[in-house]
Amino acid sequence: MTGKARRRPDELRSHRWLGVQDLRAFGHRSRMKQMGYAAEDYAGKPVIGIVNTWSDLQQCHVHLKERVEDVKRGVWQAGGFPVELPAMSLSEMFVKPSTMLYRNFLAMEAEELLRSHPIDGAVLMGGCDKTTPALIMAAISMGLPAIFVPAGPMLRGNWQGKVLGSGSDVWKYWAELKAGTITEEDWAGIESGIARSIGTCMTMGTASTMTGIAETLGFSLPGASSIPAADAGHPRMCATSGRRIVEMVWEDLTPRALLAPASFDNAIKAHMAMGGSTNAMIHLVAMARRAGVPLTLDRFDALAREVPVLGNVRPSGQYLMEDFFYAGGMTALLKRLQPLLDLGCLTVTGRTLGETIGDARIFDEEVIRPLDRPVSSEPACAILKGNLAPDGAVIKPSAADPRLLRHTGPALAFDDYDAMAAAIDRDDLEVTPDHVLVLKNAGPIGGPGMPEWGMLPVPRKLLKAGVRDMMRVSDARMSGTSYGACVLHVAPEAALGGPLALVRTGDLIEVDVPARRLQLHVAEDELARRRAAWRPPAPPPRSYARLFTAHISQAPDGCDFDFLLGTEPLPEPAIH
Ligand code: FES
Repeated sequence: MTGKARRRPDELRSHRWLGVQDLRAFGHRSRMKQMGYAAEDYAGKPVIGIVNTWSDLQQCHVHLKERVEDVKRGVWQAGGFPVELPAMSLSEMFVKPSTMLYRNFLAMEAEELLRSHPIDGAVLMGGCDKTTPALIMAAISMGLPAIFVPAGPMLRGNWQGKVLGSGSDVWKYWAELKAGTITEEDWAGIESGIARSIGTCMTMGTASTMTGIAETLGFSLPGASSIPAADAGHPRMCATSGRRIVEMVWEDLTPRALLAPASFDNAIKAHMAMGGSTNAMIHLVAMARRAGVPLTLDRFDALAREVPVLGNVRPSGQYLMEDFFYAGGMTALLKRLQPLLDLGCLTVTGRTLGETIGDARIFDEEVIRPLDRPVSSEPACAILKGNLAPDGAVIKPSAADPRLLRHTGPALAFDDYDAMAAAIDRDDLEVTPDHVLVLKNAGPIGGPGMPEWGMLPVPRKLLKAGVRDMMRVSDARMSGTSYGACVLHVAPEAALGGPLALVRTGDLIEVDVPARRLQLHVAEDELARRRAAWRPPAPPPRSYARLFTAHISQAPDGCDFDFLLGTEPLPEPAIH
């Protein structure tokens, strides 16, 4: 428990709008009546803002349109007043060029929605990739009591009796189609079977990684992140979250009370044990810094060496989130990690992490492996540095062909995505399995928005020859459902004039994961000549993208906006 005294109704933030006797409050109350609410509905009650990222073009959140009613049910039951605040829905599928361009946009929108309205506490409804970090960044910066309600993963995909996993099997069967080992008819069958229920991607992609991290940070009810969206337990969890947030307001249990440096260490350890998405590293740094915790990439590398991959879920493992749920879910995984965690961190329950996982059990040792029988001998992430990435780059060794983890080969360099796409499947492309594919100008500024282009496609001529993995290097991200020997997030990025911008086809590149090294073997005087000839790309024309590229930080710094950093409390809005 926080040890704080329970708040009185006149201490609620919403009291300033609704509870006082003045001209403005008269206006607010009269407009509440216009909406059909009597004083009995809201007077003296916590006003709970439900930030809902549902939309008709958000395939992973379609059910949140109904689930919000379950949240409201819980809020009413506990004596609160629920109000729904729609926010940008950030569909990982439909938003182009990349949802990462808009993560901070949603974070700003959600923070300002909460700040500018008479809200006392927040329920954050999201799950599809960027929605989770965006909503949590907003809640941290706003500082109101907040609980995260994850959308929940889909059920397993199915095609001709084979289990299909989101993303991972798309890339796999697309490569097989290009190699000629499956037919167009097979491909159409996969299209119908791979996303067969409501919910987020059911591999350990960015969505399940981030909702698992949110739970570990204490932002969700215990076990919430693993419940499949289609399970009847999901609406029950929504209602329980609604009940709980009302109590959190009375207790004044704010995000900062949950977030100590140890909470982020716990989250990183959970991330590694899940075999989670590389994207989570960017988001965790951003969330930590919003909370005043100066997290760096080196911490990920250090903790990845301590914590093996235990969640046997694709793309690092074999199973899917539905299996993970039946095996005991996130609380079971955390129970397994118990000896490595700081159990004193507080959660939205008002109890510590240790208390919330106390009774958890593991029901399938194959899906949630013991510490001495991990899924992979390789860690879920490694941070590489060298003259090609002075500020760092990321690789996911557990999802790469082990023979490539120590590799030197000639670069096949592409200046941008279009150049790569135009050349990659040409029969006359001069490429061997030993080449290192290099993609430039796909970083936060170069994309812009750091698109998920980092799993560069293996060239068609190599696919036909049976090659399924090769070394790739870029300043892009890759989907959490992707796999392969992909060095990502190279910083500084090419569009800032980082060394990646200087790579030319034929240069030798050395990737040595055990030594954590990424080296470009070109003489320093030659690099100096290339650097002198380099010109920065023109900024985007008038647009949000222009604001984005002017203020975005690099991947190791979390890709947050410079003007959103800092933890000092902002003044409450004046009510005149
Ligand atoms: Fe929404 Fe994968 S597309 S979680």
